[in-house]
Amino acid sequence: MKNDPASEPAAGGMTSPGDFSSEQGDPVEQQPQGSQTPSTSDEGTTIPIHDNQAKTAKKSLRTLVIDVGGAGIKAEVLNEKGKSLTPRARVSTPQPATPAAVVAEIQTLAKKQGKFDRVSVGFPGVVKNGLVLTAPNLGERWKNFNLGKILRQKLRQPVRISNDADVQGFGVITGRGVEMVITLGTGVGSALFVNGVLVPNLELGHHPFLKGKTYEEKLSNAALEKAGKKKWNKRLMKAVQQLQLIFNYDRLYLGGGNSKHVLFKLPPNARKISNEAGLWGGIALWRD
Ligand code: BGC
Repeated sequence: MKNDPASEPAAGGMTSPGDFSSEQGDPVEQQPQGSQTPSTSDEGTTIPIHDNQAKTAKKSLRTLVIDVGGAGIKAEVLNEKGKSLTPRARVSTPQPATPAAVVAEIQTLAKKQGKFDRVSVGFPGVVKNGLVLTAPNLGERWKNFNLGKILRQKLRQPVRISNDADVQGFGVITGRGVEMVITLGTGVGSALFVNGVLVPNLELGHHPFLKGKTYEEKLSNAALEKAGKKKWNKRLMKAVQQLQLIFNYDRLYLGGGNSKHVLFKLPPNARKISNEAGLWGGIALWRD
């Protein structure tokens, strides 16, 4: 069903953290969680949001969702229920990943996706009101780059941007209790939700973890390649335990391309999520 989260039973039946135990290791594939109000930008939006909602009543809005990653940029158009309307496309992230090069790739992807009414972007760094503050795996040139404004101009539709792990989280959380998302890819992403409300731009990846090194230094893709799967898994197991002690999360979701390399048995309240979840959450950025 990968491209059709709306066709899956929602995780609404979950009542306690223990609900994970029977599905240990399986990817979570569920409807994007809908009730949160993310603190994201509405860069360059000329139509007030309530007008947009009036429009919604008449026809289903098509949302172009873009996931910018260190290795790849993905795009897909979703309807308001999170159902995929176009085949998911992916291009490699240009190297160097300058703002101009990445914006050009997004434009090309957008063109191929056909019609859309609004754009959601998951970005691998701290983003506030469309303004990029950090992008550790893309480069220094992103600092203070107004991606929201540029994309609004280039794509000619309203744009909202959130951290990539935050967007991913919106696609999988249940909206109950303390939920944490860790993404394992080029970098280490993190997201925290309390009863469905996002604590934006958590950036746990850059906090100290082990032997004076950060979570990202020990668990990134580069660290996996350097240390090998066995050592990397040992570290990840330690991280999962440590994060439980710090945040006392009710549910932990492990996403990102490298979550497929998780070899150990996760605790009952943790599970892997589909890499495709990176795009589903894009719908939730418009729920306010
Ligand atoms: C960035 C995060 C991002 C993560 C995954 C980290 O280096 O600081 O913002 O979520 O990589 O892309």
